[in-house]
Amino acid sequence: MQEMIRAVAGRLRGAARVTVLTGAGVSAASGVPTFRGSNGLWRTFRAIDLATPEAFMRDPRLVWEWYGWRRECVSSCAPNAAHAVLAGWTLQHDGWRIITQNVDDLHQRAGSRGVIPLHGSLWELACWNECAAPPATWRDERVPLPESPPRCPSCGGLARPAVVWFGEALAPAVVAQAIDAAACDIFLTVGTSSVVYPAARLVDTARAHGAFVVEINPEATPASATVDVSIRVAAERVLPAIDRELYGRPC
Ligand code: OAD
Repeated sequence: MQEMIRAVAGRLRGAARVTVLTGAGVSAASGVPTFRGSNGLWRTFRAIDLATPEAFMRDPRLVWEWYGWRRECVSSCAPNAAHAVLAGWTLQHDGWRIITQNVDDLHQRAGSRGVIPLHGSLWELACWNECAAPPATWRDERVPLPESPPRCPSCGGLARPAVVWFGEALAPAVVAQAIDAAACDIFLTVGTSSVVYPAARLVDTARAHGAFVVEINPEATPASATVDVSIRVAAERVLPAIDRELYGRPC
């Protein structure tokens, strides 16, 4: 592993545009459950079956119970070493950016600058009926929420988590930012199963721009065969090791 770390650090040294795409694996060491791992179950439900507009239409109370549980879980978690390293990189280099599929805001809590949140945030809410009155989304970090399901402050109808669910389109402006960020010199895909689109396509976008692509994940993914370097070790170990190599920090 040390050789790969040295090679990646060598590439990063002096690189102007570096983009890191992160997924649930980056927050695993903080105690946030991933979506598809063995801990991707809540009660008897699979996370990927609850994160849909159909599930919400069928049973908003159940979906909000799940989100209430996730909000409680994340509020008791802290950013880990992987988040800390990435935050340091965004603060030290203007052209180094993070695109995340995570809705836990742990990158932001670690101090990362300019995070591109592809799938929204657990802490933002929106009107389920998309009522015309502003605000379109609002932030509410209370745990637990005083009312579940919560209500839209404008129309009094149901509120929903302002996250992207399966079958829903991502915000075009956020996709545009992500595509722009993927046009980089070095692209790291970290802690994602690379099965959810359009996020999974960003590796191809980066390659098409000639980026050197690195994957950090203890398990192989559909992206593994296409990347230049695949480091099959946990992000919270690999990123600090790359950082030490980059800046000559002691262990
Ligand atoms: P997944 O749960 O699909 O994948 C998590 C990945 O993290 C797996 O490939 C694990 O091998 C890896 N992993 C686990 N622990 C790790 C660690 N310590 N270090 C590095 N990697 C580790 O999560 P995502 O790929 O983020 O979307 O899922 C993508 C999207 O699917 C989510 O944003 C969510 C979900 O449904 C929506 O809700 C729209």
